[in-house]
Amino acid sequence: MKKALLTASALAMIAAGFMGCKGKDNSSSGAASVAAAGNKGKPLVFFNRQPSDPTTGAIDMNSMNWNDKTYYVGFDSVGGGAVQGQLIVDWLAEQDATKIDRNGDGVLGYVLCMGDAGHNDSQARTKGIREALGTWNGSYDSGNTKEGSVNVGGTELKVVELEGKFMTGTDGSTWNANAATDAMSNWATKYPNELDMVVSNNDGMAMGCLQASNYPEGVPIFGYDANADAIEAIGAGKLTGTVSQNTDAQATATLQVIRNLLDGLTGADVYTKGISEPDQYGNKISAEVEYVADQKAVLAKNAAVNGNNWQQYTAGNRDAGVTQTNATPKKVILTIYNSADNFLSSSYLPALQYYAPLLNLDLTVVQGDGQNEASCLDKFTNLNSFDAYAINMVKTNSGSDYTDKLKY
Ligand code: BGC
Repeated sequence: MKKALLTASALAMIAAGFMGCKGKDNSSSGAASVAAAGNKGKPLVFFNRQPSDPTTGAIDMNSMNWNDKTYYVGFDSVGGGAVQGQLIVDWLAEQDATKIDRNGDGVLGYVLCMGDAGHNDSQARTKGIREALGTWNGSYDSGNTKEGSVNVGGTELKVVELEGKFMTGTDGSTWNANAATDAMSNWATKYPNELDMVVSNNDGMAMGCLQASNYPEGVPIFGYDANADAIEAIGAGKLTGTVSQNTDAQATATLQVIRNLLDGLTGADVYTKGISEPDQYGNKISAEVEYVADQKAVLAKNAAVNGNNWQQYTAGNRDAGVTQTNATPKKVILTIYNSADNFLSSSYLPALQYYAPLLNLDLTVVQGDGQNEASCLDKFTNLNSFDAYAINMVKTNSGSDYTDKLKY
């Protein structure tokens, strides 16, 4: 039944092609037009940046319903914010308040590196941190907080967010680590005595803060992502904690969903085979992953990482449940919003490159500059020659820019 429908829509596309509505990537040969007509029916997986409204966070279901082979693979963003908040308060509960409160004024002052104003992960983390510290004032904005309180080793300290800042680089790119270094230098000068803690919505910016030459020694600092350099920094006692968003589970799930769709699986098999149950090749990832049906989203779980368990998160811990398959070789084009993003380039991409050959997926990776969608879109070309598409957008509301290119 489904097949017949697809064929009908494919025919409509071909007819549209003959009527002159040709996509940029079509070549002039008839055979290419037929192949082009198939792009609309090919697997499309968005990852890491969930198609959504940057202001309201509402999921962009138009993009998610592009075809019945469209999925999102990410992690539990809201749950991750809560894990990060809990990581911080759990750590504080074990500390000596006289050491944490550096000027002894009974107030824990902290600064927050917020990342990207329109990104749901930035928002979820800002909320999770502020809720845990009691500074949440119902807004994701910088500066809109209230006084909170927290238990530090049995002493109740007031909590004040001294400043929060979205980290935009001079080139306009978001989650910018250099911007965090600059901000940290200013904060260290501006709040020589009031600053007791630094919190960052990702590790890239946290490591950027630690780069500031005047970083106040011994002030605790928390990140998010469990990037290899951050894990090392925890081991070295420089970074206090981070959160693993389970990159390997996300990378394998992104590829596995594509593999399943290319193998013709449908229904629940698309997001369970090789993920929560063995697939036909005997593969199954070991991490727990959930499926949120109304968002067509496959989400990995988060885990707190600190001085007690960082060894479990050192680089190279690949999932032994994913081994070499003899699946039919297929070609996938994959975009990455910013080649300079620490998480995507140092954690996610190496994981993809490790697992893709095991699933016999030949990845063509194109990377943008983190500011203009065109930096990715202009390289999202020759689409007829790929069997599937994996998209990490510059802006979360750009889904249709990609699907528009797959129309023909
Ligand atoms: C990561 C950030 C990264 C962002 C890019 C987030 O999930 O935690 O480190 O910069 O994704 O989209």
